[in-house]
Amino acid sequence: MGRINALLVTGGAGFIGSAVCRHLVQQGYRVINVDKLTYAADLRSLQEVEGSERYSFHQADICDGAAMARILAEEQPDAIMHLAAETHVDRSIDGPAVFVETNVIGTVTLLQAALDYWRGLDGERRDAFRFHHVSTDEVFGDLPLDQGVFTEETPYAPSSPYSASKASSDHFVRAWHETYGLPIVLSNCSNNYGPYHFPEKLIPLVVLNALEGQELPVYGQGINVRDWLYVDDHARALELVATTGKNGESYAIGGRSERNNLSVVESICDALDSKVPLPDGRSRRELIRFVTDRPGHDRRYAIDPSKIERELGWRAEQTFESGLAATIDWYLANEWWWRPIREQRYAGKRLGGAS
Ligand code: NAD
Ligand code: DAU
Repeated sequence: MGRINALLVTGGAGFIGSAVCRHLVQQGYRVINVDKLTYAADLRSLQEVEGSERYSFHQADICDGAAMARILAEEQPDAIMHLAAETHVDRSIDGPAVFVETNVIGTVTLLQAALDYWRGLDGERRDAFRFHHVSTDEVFGDLPLDQGVFTEETPYAPSSPYSASKASSDHFVRAWHETYGLPIVLSNCSNNYGPYHFPEKLIPLVVLNALEGQELPVYGQGINVRDWLYVDDHARALELVATTGKNGESYAIGGRSERNNLSVVESICDALDSKVPLPDGRSRRELIRFVTDRPGHDRRYAIDPSKIERELGWRAEQTFESGLAATIDWYLANEWWWRPIREQRYAGKRLGGAS
C-alpha cells in the first residue's frame, strides 16, 4: 500500500464490487462502498466486512451529483473505483434506457463530482489520486471464432445496448482526462464468474437450474466463446490497476481461459452429477435445451492480458477448472444466499427479447 489508503468503490454491493470490497478490506485499505441497491445488489455479499471499522456504506445513486459531491467531501477518498452499472446484456435488449441513464449519465455525473473533488486536493494527494473506470471487453465487439484477441489497442465496436453504453462511458472517462486533466485508469475485463454471482448470468443460472433438475437454456448452438476469469483474480487485478496503474492508461484483463458455452454447461452438468447425482441417476446433460439465439449475439471474446502481466506483475491464479469447482462448491454451501434471490427477485425466466 502506498499513498492510496482509502478507496471509494461504486457498485460495491454487486458481484464484482463486493469481491473488490472484501479483498480491499482484507488488504488493509479503508473502503467506502457507494451503491444504489438495484435488483442486482445484495448487502449480504458484504457480511465478511460489514463489521470492519475500515468499511462503510452509503446508499446513493451515481446519477445524483449532489450526493456524490457530499460523500466525496465527507469521506475524502484517495481514489475512486467505479463499478456501478447495469450489466446484463439480455436486460439491455429488453430495456436500454436505464443502461444509458446509469452507465452513461451516471458515469458523467460521477466524473464531474470527482473532478471538482480532485481540484480541491492539495499536493501529494492530488498527484496520487486516480479515477479507475472498470469496463468490459464487450466494448471491442466480437472476434471470429478461430482467430484474434483483444488488446488495449483494439478499436471500439460495441454491438449490444449494454456494450454501447459501456463504450460511451469509457470515452467520457478519457475525455475528462484529456480535457480537464483528471487522473484516470481504465480496465477492460472478460467474463467473470465465482461466488455471489447474480443468477441471471450463464454460470450461476446453469448451476442452480442443474442443481434443481430444471432445463438448461443454451442460446443458438452453444458455439459462442467467452474468456472466463475467476472474480477474485479480477479483484486483485483491479487493486493493482487502481493503486499502481499509470495515469491515462488502460489495461486488458482476462484469464486465458476460452471456452464455448456448450462446453461450460456440460462441465457444470458433469461436476454436479458427480457431487450430487439426480435422484433418478440421469445425466444432467439431458437437461440441455438449445433455445432461440440472443439478438446480436457476440461470437467470441478473448483477451491478451500481457500488458497487465508485464507492467503490473498480475497473474490469474485460478484455472477455469479450479475456479469452476470452487464456484460450484460455493453455491452448494450457500443456499442461504441464492434461495431468496431465486424465490423473490429472479427465478430464471428467459430475458432478452427472444423468448
Ligand atoms: P452487478 O450487476 O453484479 O452489480 C452492479 C452494481 O451496481 C449493483 O450493486 C447495483 O446496485 C449497482 N448500481 C447500478 N446502478 C447504480 C446507480 N445508478 N448508482 C449506484 N449504484 C448502482 O455487476 P458486476 O457484474 O459486478 O459488474 C461490475 C462492473 O464490472 C460493471 O461496470 C461491469 O460493466 C464491469 N464488468 C463486469 C464483468 C462481468 O463479467 N460481470 C466483466 C467485465 C467488466
Ligand atoms: O465480457 C464481459 C461481460 O460478460 C460483462 O461485461 C457483462 O456484464 C457480463 O454480463 C458478461 O456478458 P455476457 O453476455 O458474455 O454474459 P452472460 O452470462 O449473459 O452470457 C454468457 C454467454 O452465455 C453468452 O454467449 C450468452 C450465453 N447464454 C447466456 C444465458 C444467460 C446462454 O447460452 N444461455 C443463458 O441462459
